[in-house]
Amino acid sequence: MAHEENIEQAGLLEEEQIAEFIHHAGQIEHPREMIIDILRAIQKNHGWVPDEGVELTATILGLTALEVEEIATFYDKIYRKPVGRYPIHICDSICCWSRGGEELAAHLQEKLGVALGQTTADGLFTLLPSCCLGGCGRAPGVMVDQRFYGNQNAEEIEKLIEKLRQEAAA
Ligand code: FES
Repeated sequence: MAHEENIEQAGLLEEEQIAEFIHHAGQIEHPREMIIDILRAIQKNHGWVPDEGVELTATILGLTALEVEEIATFYDKIYRKPVGRYPIHICDSICCWSRGGEELAAHLQEKLGVALGQTTADGLFTLLPSCCLGGCGRAPGVMVDQRFYGNQNAEEIEKLIEKLRQEAAA
């Protein structure tokens, strides 16, 4: 296990967060369980997880960077490239397809002027296709900030975009 003083945090985590993660990792049998927690904390502070964040996580947990990277790239809610303030995950699975998901994705791309995978010029929104978001009963849906918004259509999604724009401007 790494010592705190050896960790180059590069502003990705607060010192107290690092100390807390190290303490917690020392108390559990499989520190790998904490990979996502640490990556999420880095993402919350920094907006996305740069290579230094993967290395920092590995150092905290006494793992290799590759072990962390395997998890980081498996979960599509961990961003390994810069994203907008609000990454919008558009469900790209069958229940949503069958209930207008493709039209919803097309509408969002037209409304925001970006293709899937791109970020709006104002840095607010990134559109990301995702596998089933777990809200099939309310398909079609999108996820923003860990929250699922179901029963979406052109009108509802425009309201959501407007609400997020206002939140960003507040
Ligand atoms: S298929 Fe879209 S939420 Fe499950």
